[in-house]
Amino acid sequence: MTRRALIRIDRYTRGAILLHWAIAALVLVNLTIGLLHESLLRGVAGAMPLHLSIGIAVLALSLARIGWRLAYRPPPPPIALSALERRAAAATHIGFYALLLILPLTGWMLVSGKPTSKPFGWFGLFDVPPLPVTRAVSGVAHQAHGVLGYAMAALVLLHVAAALRHHFVLRDGVLARMIPVLLPRG
Ligand code: HEM
Ligand code: HEM
Repeated sequence: MTRRALIRIDRYTRGAILLHWAIAALVLVNLTIGLLHESLLRGVAGAMPLHLSIGIAVLALSLARIGWRLAYRPPPPPIALSALERRAAAATHIGFYALLLILPLTGWMLVSGKPTSKPFGWFGLFDVPPLPVTRAVSGVAHQAHGVLGYAMAALVLLHVAAALRHHFVLRDGVLARMIPVLLPRG
């Protein structure tokens, strides 16, 4: 019997998987737009309105994801992880949940707080009003948004490296919990 056949793999629920990949895709697009908006994307008219709309979508989906996470415990890992690995994974996931709320909120605050701040369209469907913050708070949020954007990019690299290590080195089925098509048949 192969090692794989001995491993019991419980995947995440369909809703958790759907939210994980929707949020992941939107975050990757927004990191790309954010990091390139002053170089490659300078002068591309639709880029920043798209960044604002995607950011608000990430905020809403993350609130749903956090609600889901509080209601459903994730499945137990397929293999015994060391205490260090368990703590590193938990710290990364908590960091993600914090950034998934704080990044969009600081973004929303940075476009608010000035006398010229006005509502912006959400994918052309409805207007999102500016937040009631002072100019000073908006300035701090602006600084934080830049720094936290880089923190998010670093966390994504770490998370993807860990996922690939589980799949290709440890071959323990952790990635299959989020991508059920990778589950071994039978
Ligand atoms: C780019 C943005 C991404 C974000 C914000 C993100 C966020 C998260 C979060 C918060 C969890 C924890 C779920 C829980 O509460 O248990 C998670 C789990 C997971 N993610 Fe991601 N993720 C991203 C991208 C990716 C990518 C690109 C991969 C694959 C290469 C991936 C693979 C996984 C796997 C396998 C798990 C399950 C880990 C486990 O079972 O302990 N993620 N992700
Ligand atoms: C997933 C959510 C988000 C991510 C990952 C993200 C990421 C980033 C990054 C990496 C930058 C570049 C920072 C720098 O170069 O200093 C940026 C800039 C910016 N973001 Fe976001 N952002 C998000 C949500 C939002 C939201 C919701 C808004 C507003 C409603 C927003 C408004 C802005 C603006 C106006 C800039 C340009 C700031 C400047 O030119 O100085 N962002 N974002």
